[in-house]
Amino acid sequence: MRNSLRGLSCAALLATVAMPFGLSASATDLEVTHWWTSGGEAAAVAEFAKAFDATGNKWVDGAIAGSGGTARPIMISRITGGDPMGATQFNHGRQAEELVEAGLMRDLSDVAVPGKWKDIVSPSSLLDSCTLDGKIYCVPVNIHSQQWLWLSNAAFEKIGTPVPTNWDEYVAAAPKLEEAGILPLAMGQQPWQTTLAFQVLLVAIAGPDAYTAVFGDKDVEIAGGEDMAKVFEAAEMARSMSKGTNVQNWNDATNMVITGKAAGQIMGDWAQGEFAVANQVAGEDYTCLPGLGVNEVIQTGGDAFYFPKVDDAEITAAQAELAKVMMSKETQVAFNLKKGSLPVRGDVDLSAANDCMRKGLDILAKGNVIQAPDQLMSADDLTLVNDLFVQFFNDPSMSAADAQAQFTDIVSNAS
Ligand code: GAL
Repeated sequence: MRNSLRGLSCAALLATVAMPFGLSASATDLEVTHWWTSGGEAAAVAEFAKAFDATGNKWVDGAIAGSGGTARPIMISRITGGDPMGATQFNHGRQAEELVEAGLMRDLSDVAVPGKWKDIVSPSSLLDSCTLDGKIYCVPVNIHSQQWLWLSNAAFEKIGTPVPTNWDEYVAAAPKLEEAGILPLAMGQQPWQTTLAFQVLLVAIAGPDAYTAVFGDKDVEIAGGEDMAKVFEAAEMARSMSKGTNVQNWNDATNMVITGKAAGQIMGDWAQGEFAVANQVAGEDYTCLPGLGVNEVIQTGGDAFYFPKVDDAEITAAQAELAKVMMSKETQVAFNLKKGSLPVRGDVDLSAANDCMRKGLDILAKGNVIQAPDQLMSADDLTLVNDLFVQFFNDPSMSAADAQAQFTDIVSNAS
């Protein structure tokens, strides 16, 4: 835990000495862990750091490279092992459930209630995901949806085909793309990315109700049914369209689309951050198709910050300050414009939103939303799903039917 005199400015130090009863605002170092290390992510997180530092405290950046899958076990073991950070990212939903239940996380009600978070956070499911037994344990900071196909306009120009408007048109263009030496679909190899592609295909092809039935209600009949068989066939198609992608990280796959080496990527809206950093313009250089152009639905998942419980008044005060800053209108706009996500409050000025962000906002306004897998299924069960799709996407001999049978089995045992 960092809460040292190193972080105190002279003025604040004097003020602390002069007012020993905790009345002064002292500068506190607060270590914040997260897995935001790509260009777009780093630009976005810098907005949080800037806003927090402006309160007189000091953001100590604890970026963990890799992905959420690498970062989360490290974060969890630091908290359970008695070496907690000041604040940490998790995805909205059930990832921190056990930590909260074990009493290791701070109840933020003292910030959330006077801040009227219940009135301002929209949709309310975001705050529900932070709430246990009426207490609020996290600050939702964005709405990220996974249901997007990102297309390189240059790649389609090269083959003389209009930019696809839906999944079927995209699939139809694959042979021509291959002939031109363009990889039809870029797919990073980290486990969560293949699962993400599958979930996106599920929502597009079988529809949002089927998705919620499978991940939320653990409906085995639907998981093993005919509509889902079509989803697995589409996943087989995605496997062949992405054959030979030799990158691990999602942003390296996005970069293949940015440079026109690949024609498309199924990825969450955080990909927008990368296009922005590369100075590409939505609608001109690239095209985004929510719901693969088939079912225009977005997930209301995303990121939330949790604050481990500590017995240190200065850290506790700095945590409250950071929670407030993250929810403030100004920070919500600055952070989300860079991150490619939507703000968690509807009362902010988004006149600077780009084409794709507007599409997301429209879908949100229509109420075409579903919950994220992390909100519906336990972290352990999602790990099993991840393992299955890593295997499926890496082993062309595994049939769609085999994968569906194994998936149904996981769903039948899931909680
Ligand atoms: C997600 C997270 C996003 C994004 C992505 C890739 O879990 O919600 O904010 O950064 O990982 O790192």
